Amino acid sequence: MKHLLSIEKLPVADLEQILSNTPRIKAARGREEARPLAGQTWAIIFSKSSTRTRVSFEVGIRELGGSPMFLSANDIQLGRGEPIKDTARVLGRMVHGAVIRTFAQQDVEEFARFSNIPTINALTDDEHPCQILADILTFQEKRGSIRGKTVAFIGDGACNVAHSWIWAAVKLGFHLRIASPPPFQPSPTLLSRAGAKSSGAKPAVYEFASGAKVLVTEDLNLAADGADLLYTDVWVSMGKEAEAEERLRILAGYQINEALVRRARPDALVMHCLPAYRGKEIDDATFEAHAGTIFDEAENRLHVQKSILTWAVS
Ligand code: CP
Ligand code: NVA
Repeated sequence: MKHLLSIEKLPVADLEQILSNTPRIKAARGREEARPLAGQTWAIIFSKSSTRTRVSFEVGIRELGGSPMFLSANDIQLGRGEPIKDTARVLGRMVHGAVIRTFAQQDVEEFARFSNIPTINALTDDEHPCQILADILTFQEKRGSIRGKTVAFIGDGACNVAHSWIWAAVKLGFHLRIASPPPFQPSPTLLSRAGAKSSGAKPAVYEFASGAKVLVTEDLNLAADGADLLYTDVWVSMGKEAEAEERLRILAGYQINEALVRRARPDALVMHCLPAYRGKEIDDATFEAHAGTIFDEAENRLHVQKSILTWAVS
């Protein structure tokens, strides 16, 4: 039984297989596509809003021959307190796979354990694995292998997307620089769980067996210098709305803008997982100058998720 619960738990060989199969699946779209989900129904259970993830999974499941069934968590008994493990055991007897967007990571893991059907994390508070796979695919389409390259993540370095970037760097051997104010830096516990050895340097540089280095700094200029990719995400993730005012105040300035882009390599890419809040984590001119890459990245959610689904049922 294959699940995609996090980049943390995804074996490197599977991560590489999903990525390497995607160009073929992308090229076959609309032509003689394989239909590995023929006859299957997949539940898409979401407790948070979504545009890209919902649409790309619904379209992807259909294109692979399956039928998607969207279930808003509020519309099913889960939203009225039915335990996850009971929901999972019911759906496990009726549908063939599940795609889940929710708050607690342990809820997706519990669903996978009790349902006994392939389960895919479509974003939790801890990780957003499908997003990072699409991001890496997009980088590799434009710049070749990401191994040894440098990605600068600017903004909320303790969010789900930043966490998935950390695990991807550790597994694929690229360098990651995270520029965030101290309350929004990734926790040392996560970095040590990932096998980090601190070099003792200030700002902190963590080294990993794969050759990856992860730098955590307050200095966004230091993070951006010579980077191959500048990346950002919203300052107020879903579920953090009560902290919005404080986050906007503390994260102010952690923005990708033209001045920051000038510090990166001349051919540096700029990406954003979307939705984007112009004037906050990115300015409008920079967003529009890099819109071609950003919307390729959004489109790649569809292609990489078809590869994930194909892998999950193989
Ligand atoms: N990037 C992303 O996951 O977008 P949605 O929240 O619209 O699905
Ligand atoms: N970190 C963001 C990602 C949105 C796709 C959130 O969790 O809201």
